[in-house]
Amino acid sequence: AKEKPLAGLSAVVTAGPTYEPIDPVRFIGNHSSGLMGITIANALHAAGAQTTLVLGPTHLTANVGVETIKVTTAQQMFDAVAGVFPSTQIAVMAAAVADYRPATVAHQKIKKQVDELEFSLVKNPDILLHCGMNKSSNQWVVGFALETNDEAAHAMDKLRRKNADMIVMNSMQDKGAGFGSANNKVTIFEPEAGPLSLPLMTKQDLAKEIVSLIAKRIHEKA
Ligand code: C5P
Repeated sequence: AKEKPLAGLSAVVTAGPTYEPIDPVRFIGNHSSGLMGITIANALHAAGAQTTLVLGPTHLTANVGVETIKVTTAQQMFDAVAGVFPSTQIAVMAAAVADYRPATVAHQKIKKQVDELEFSLVKNPDILLHCGMNKSSNQWVVGFALETNDEAAHAMDKLRRKNADMIVMNSMQDKGAGFGSANNKVTIFEPEAGPLSLPLMTKQDLAKEIVSLIAKRIHEKA
């Protein structure tokens, strides 16, 4: 049982970027590779959890056994997570979700005419916030935070605002970690435990650390 501490539980993980269409051939996106979330999904599955990965556009894939739902936009990611969240005990939101999307999507490719082109953006739904606000006492919600300044204060604030059980914070000030890197250096914030600063490690090792901390918290409460 020690090797499968999450046996009998279900998990949902988001990973990767979202692409928000502008017209049939263009989108607003970001450089997320999805690696951190994918490795967390793999680690949850290895720990025995029945795991669903809601994955934005990337060429990376999860291990066999992780059920992957591929999505493109933030709205599609939200819909997929909202659908499975009620039947899961663990939700880890590691996707780099676009905060805004174009208010309208042009049906045809936008032609190069005017010197200045403007379009308006509208807010996307916040998936982590949805999970935090709708969780019951047997659900664990984990989010990520990428901060550039006043990291600890912003991470603690995010923990509270999103009603999360854990925020994994990457600092932009750590070189050789984070976006597009195989390694990551994080500090984990929880409502009732002091911040836990982990050394620079591979995303695989970090995923194992995060999953064993989740398992520890679940078993402490049981
Ligand atoms: O608010 P902020 O984007 O900084 O929070 C980051 C965390 O929230 C990450 O866990 C990210 O996956 C999640 N998030 C989300 N849906 C959004 C925006 C962020 O799930 N629309």
